[in-house]
Amino acid sequence: MRNKIAEHLNEIKDYQAKTAQEIEAFRIKYLGSKGIIKGLFADFKTVANEEKREMGQLLNDLRAMATSRIDELKAAQDSDGIGEKFRDIDLTRPGFPFETGSRHPVSLVMNEIIQIFNKMAFSVAEGPEVEDDWHNFTSLNFPEEHPARDMQDTFFVDLPGSIALRTHTSSVQARVMENQKPPIRVIAPGRVYRNEAISARAHCIFHQVEGLVIDENVSFADLKLTLLNFAKEFFGEEARIRLRPSYFPFTEPSAEVDVYWGLKTEADYRITKGTGWLEILGCGMVDPNVLKNFDIDPDKYSGFAFGMGIERIAMLKYQVDDLRLFYENDARFLKQFKETY
Ligand code: DAH
Repeated sequence: MRNKIAEHLNEIKDYQAKTAQEIEAFRIKYLGSKGIIKGLFADFKTVANEEKREMGQLLNDLRAMATSRIDELKAAQDSDGIGEKFRDIDLTRPGFPFETGSRHPVSLVMNEIIQIFNKMAFSVAEGPEVEDDWHNFTSLNFPEEHPARDMQDTFFVDLPGSIALRTHTSSVQARVMENQKPPIRVIAPGRVYRNEAISARAHCIFHQVEGLVIDENVSFADLKLTLLNFAKEFFGEEARIRLRPSYFPFTEPSAEVDVYWGLKTEADYRITKGTGWLEILGCGMVDPNVLKNFDIDPDKYSGFAFGMGIERIAMLKYQVDDLRLFYENDARFLKQFKETY
């Protein structure tokens, strides 16, 4: 028995294991309920009385040895910090591709427009998307029976007081004039809503950037220069704009502005209907009635305003000829746009 114990002791001392399974097999072999040490303890009964003391001691040592060797092996496994299943990992393999998001093309264009107007000393104003009739229509000189108030154009919200989703960012003009005295020089970028049938050229959600300047001696020439400057900054030094007389309740006189983009691609033909020109905004001199609604003296102050459609501009810039793509959240479409400014 003494020899057996000595043999086992040697085996245990030198035992090496690589895997958790091997260690477990080793534990079962020695310490399991049918293991070697259990067997030796069973044989202990047959040991002569005078040897019992010594053999008992040796057996206890053997069991302690086996237990501590197993603990050592387990600790060695854990201490290298690598779990068993990662042991065979190939560190030279390329990593998993990690995709970072990108900005939405509408945001990219919006941010670029904001930057250009910031350079012209405009600050950014904001207003709510759920608006009341006063800020969206009445204060902006919309006659009571104006068709834009019609159910067909406006999404009304089921709340008392003719609450609606704003149909244009001109509502922010009203909010600014309510809270600020001239000189005023702001732009208001934001989302607007109209009850329109969705097609390649129209959507019920879109974005605008509104502009408002009110000061002494502001003229139509200032408006024109501001817009030409913007067009050159955004579309390039050779950009051209043209103004066509138009009507808006809150401006007098009013104009619509087209930018000349040209006909370089098939998409240009589709987006500009074969003319090379695209209408990008409405503008005009702020109607004296609007100024009066906000206690601004029209004899002392004058101002201009404009509102441009962001999707229109994004369509040209990125050659997207179907507006609906901007709202489908298809990652394959969205990841093509990179910040360029
Ligand atoms: N609010 C107009 C629209 O949604 C655009 C517009 C036209 C804004 C003339 C203005 C303006 O500030 O002066 O179509």
